[in-house]
Amino acid sequence: MPQRFENKVIVVTGGASGMGTTHARAFVAEGGKVVIADVNDEAGNALATELGDNARYHHLDVSDEAEWADFMEFTEREFGPISVMVNNAGIGGGGPLESMTFADWRKVLGINLDGVFLGTRAAIASMKKVGGGSIVNISSFAGLIGTPFSANYTTSKFAVRGLTKATAMEVADYNIRVNSVHPGYIRTPILGPLGDEVVVGKVAMKRMALPEEVSKMVLFIASDDASYSTGAEFVVDGGWAAGSPVSIGETNAQYYERP
Ligand SMILES: NC(=O)c1ccc[n+]([C@@H]2O[C@H](COP(=O)([O-])OP(=O)(O)OC[C@H]3O[C@@H](n4cnc5c(N)ncnc54)[C@H](O)[C@@H]3O)[C@@H](O)[C@H]2O)c1
Repeated sequence: MPQRFENKVIVVTGGASGMGTTHARAFVAEGGKVVIADVNDEAGNALATELGDNARYHHLDVSDEAEWADFMEFTEREFGPISVMVNNAGIGGGGPLESMTFADWRKVLGINLDGVFLGTRAAIASMKKVGGGSIVNISSFAGLIGTPFSANYTTSKFAVRGLTKATAMEVADYNIRVNSVHPGYIRTPILGPLGDEVVVGKVAMKRMALPEEVSKMVLFIASDDASYSTGAEFVVDGGWAAGSPVSIGETNAQYYERP
């Protein structure tokens, strides 16, 4: 196993569930020291205990500015300034726009967008102390294409993409890279019991992904292997955002079988 993160300190927000757990595990497996941030204290503490001396858990509601100050103080006291920030915490949204309450709108934007703003700002201050770093913002396929019945979620993920590019332009001189990751359908608790059948006709690869497939991309961007990439979009969606895999009026199988 390569040790790309030896002597590096990494924060993974939303690290207590789903993709956050596989990102945290992968960083520790490659020599990193990881601080898991979440609001699910039980699951976060359990994961940190499982990962051992190179992991810590600390409570953080990413939408709360005051909690960020406390969280970064804890992180730097335990392990030192950070080299990698994975702004991964997020919640789903949904419902027709017409009946969406302002509270629903604000809640999703508060966590999915304000949380990334606060995490990015905190990361820059810490990374400057170690001469640079990599910020990985988890957006979505819904940050690339319009999706119905999730205006709050879609807007938050498009905004993360814009925030990523604006920040990348500002901090390149500090040797800090900032990129966005756009997962498609990934098997995590956020999706509930949905199976592969829901992606057929939408996703060229006709399957959901495992969270580990996204972790591999996140670690690549976080590492020096991605040394010339900033302000960029890294898509892990089985071809979803590339286009429709179905031609008009027939399935691809029918098309192949044409005389
Ligand atoms: N699963 C997918 O198919 C998919 C697709 C595209 C993008 N994403 C994005 O990937 C990220 C991770 O999603 P996941 O599928 O692993 O979800 P998940 O629900 O399994 O995990 C999300 C984690 O974020 C935490 N969290 C929620 N609100 C928080 C807050 N205010 N502060 C701190 N932590 C908070 C939760 O407690 C949970 O541990 C999210 O940003 C999500 O929008 C997921």
